[in-house]
Amino acid sequence: MHTIMVANPKGGCGKSTLAIHLASWFAHCDEIVCLADLDRQQSSAEWLKRRPSTLPPIRAWASEDGTPGAPPRDCGVGILDTPAGLHGKALRQLLREVDRVIVPVAPSRFDMLASRDFFDELAETKAVRKDRVGVAIVGMRVDPRTNASQQMLEFLQQFDLPLVTCIRNTQRYVQAVETGETLFDPGRNATGDLEQWRPLLDWLVTRRT
Ligand SMILES: Nc1ncnc2c1ncn2[C@@H]1O[C@H](COP(=O)(O)OP(=O)(O)O)[C@@H](O)[C@H]1O
Ligand SMILES: [Mg+2]
Repeated sequence: MHTIMVANPKGGCGKSTLAIHLASWFAHCDEIVCLADLDRQQSSAEWLKRRPSTLPPIRAWASEDGTPGAPPRDCGVGILDTPAGLHGKALRQLLREVDRVIVPVAPSRFDMLASRDFFDELAETKAVRKDRVGVAIVGMRVDPRTNASQQMLEFLQQFDLPLVTCIRNTQRYVQAVETGETLFDPGRNATGDLEQWRPLLDWLVTRRT
């Protein structure tokens, strides 16, 4: 199974939004997808309950105390949505289960500070050092006209990790999620926004050597 973890110790940076969009995209690609919500807030699990049954299915991947159980049978893609504050042993354990990590970073000083420690911790982890797990950064809620976004882009340059794309700040994400949908679902008329996802999706499906 291709297992992707979305993680950043800071709350509110867009982990759940990213996780459900990826689950939805793979479902539209006819993959058998499962989504684990390891956060007690259960944002993505609740989203999955609201998802209309007419849309390509995403299976719930059960977890207990922040640890995913066995994935549902036959799944080709697993997405892990993780809680704020993830670090240390819990992080290292999850890194054993995954082959990709996506770290959303929002343009705020607090997010940047939290991300710095997280990037350092990731870089020291054996799975990342040995290149068994690929790590990429996604700029989330980015408005290129703002100083905060420019500062974030400069800040991210110092790390030896690819910034694969930036997702703009728009209420369309908030609205889609309300109804159990994503911008990948039909009727959302989101072509321009979806172009911003393309580099991330390409990175995810490129075979690692
Ligand atoms: N690109 C975006 N544009 C606008 N709002 C966003 C965007 N991404 C996330 N949000 C909103 O920001 C809030 C936090 O996002 P969420 O995905 O729940 O973060 P996390 O899971 O890291 O706590 C939510 O209200 C979500 O709808
Ligand atoms: Mg969340």
